[in-house]
Amino acid sequence: MKFFIDTANLEEIRSAAELGVLDGVTTNPSLIAKIVGDPSNFTYNDFKRHIARICEIVDGPVSAEVTSLGAEEMIAEGEDLAALHENVVVKCPLTLDGLKAIRHFSSKGIRTNATLVFSPNQALLAAKAGADFVSPFVGRLDDISTDGMALVEQIVTMYDNYGFMTEVIVASVRHPQHVVASALMGADIATIPYAVIKQLVTHPLTDAGLRKFMEDASVMKK
Ligand code: E4P
Repeated sequence: MKFFIDTANLEEIRSAAELGVLDGVTTNPSLIAKIVGDPSNFTYNDFKRHIARICEIVDGPVSAEVTSLGAEEMIAEGEDLAALHENVVVKCPLTLDGLKAIRHFSSKGIRTNATLVFSPNQALLAAKAGADFVSPFVGRLDDISTDGMALVEQIVTMYDNYGFMTEVIVASVRHPQHVVASALMGADIATIPYAVIKQLVTHPLTDAGLRKFMEDASVMKK
């Protein structure tokens, strides 16, 4: 199972990379907005520079999302983003135009991540269009009292049934239990916010055990 970090924050990406368990990065326009100090000074070129800097930190897929709605515009934008670095994956929304763009990128050998996926049929379409990754948003489904992980289970089963190569990225992860469930279902990847990555590490019994070991070790003279 691969771990991606779901952030555009360079410090968080560096910290997660230092742990040695990071396989890639996902960003979206909202995550980019969080790292922008003064929006009036942040240009599209700044965005591209930021994605390129992420690619220098992590040697794995880095999803950069298109911000157009029409297929032609998505294609132009995605080709521009893909040219930044070989690890850039173009993130396209699961819409009619998004599917057309995904099909185009697939024919050109440009990797894509179908995003904003909330139903099994959307995931099926993403795979058929040739998406390399599909991102079901589990937390946002949970937020509206719908079982997000049940969607992941359906997608994993459907892809296995037909041998689709599209990798399932569990997205909109909110807590460690989402990660455990993803692994049990055989999802390929979980993209995890930095705060949740830190939660995966900690356990109160680890802390208590370590405190005791440190106390007992202090009897030894160095
Ligand atoms: C990642 O690809 C998604 O854009 C992200 O996980 C969405 O997370 P959110 O629902 O917490 O905004």
